[in-house]
Amino acid sequence: MPDSHRINAPAAFVTGWPIKHSRSPIIHGYWLKHYGLQGSYDPVAVTPEDFACFITSLKEGTSGFVGGNVTIPHKEAACLLADHLDELASEIGAANTLWREDGRIYATNTDGYGFVSNLDHQVPGWDKADRAVILGAGGASRAVVQSVRDRGVKEIHIVNRTMPRARELADRFGKSIHAHGLPALAEVVQGAGLFINTTSLGMDGLESIDIDFSEMATGALVTDIVYVPLETPILRQAREQGYATADGLGMLLHQAVPGFEKWFGTRPEVDETLRQLIVDDIKVEP
Ligand code: ATR
Repeated sequence: MPDSHRINAPAAFVTGWPIKHSRSPIIHGYWLKHYGLQGSYDPVAVTPEDFACFITSLKEGTSGFVGGNVTIPHKEAACLLADHLDELASEIGAANTLWREDGRIYATNTDGYGFVSNLDHQVPGWDKADRAVILGAGGASRAVVQSVRDRGVKEIHIVNRTMPRARELADRFGKSIHAHGLPALAEVVQGAGLFINTTSLGMDGLESIDIDFSEMATGALVTDIVYVPLETPILRQAREQGYATADGLGMLLHQAVPGFEKWFGTRPEVDETLRQLIVDDIKVEP
């Protein structure tokens, strides 16, 4: 049982397998201190085999937690095990934020909120783009597709190495979404006002691909949800070709806001000090 529970302060968790690289404890720990709140937020390593038991103990109140975050590989299982999903989690098929209310487990997905909220702060007006290109059709892509669609961007093109995965996402998220394989990338990027990388290309020094952004719309924005390194090869190419860019760290910070408010009762602000804490942490352990 978490210590804070013993003194009647709310305790929240982040669970995954593995979990030790999660930066969420830094984010929530910063806000707890900043707002002078009693409470705790701790990493809990739970294997896929034990995840259902973990959720049962949360539901029954024996874990001592009021809720928490769920990360890889438990996001889909969280969706299946929760008693109530909101529309966002239900459509995506994955949840990252849980809370307990009247002995029931509620689940939502705040990744899309984190994505749009970051751009709203960094690049207001980003959502005026007529056409968006989303590279990637994996787990991380879903919340991005959903949130860009819900913001009203009319034409969304998902481009993925494995075409059937792009097709599956397009079918899931509706008529305004078009699916393509990688060979179509150069063509759909032409005239687009927004480009989003949701693949692992360029992450942690992994290989990336060359993209010609030069035919994008005037004032177009290129963004990446990868944040290690902060300037990914894709962002560097876009910057060198004269386009505005936004890095992926803000999405991580902003997706944490709704959960913190739910568990600890205060809506926190993402500020420069918090961002710098994570930037410094990335330098120590990329
Ligand atoms: P996540 O949950 O982080 O999105 P994922 O579900 O494994 O992880 O998806 C990774 C994404 O990166 C996919 O879109 C993947 O393309 P495939 O669906 O074809 O696998 C994409 N990706 C990873 N490595 C890639 C590479 N070398 N070239 C192109 N796309 C790549």
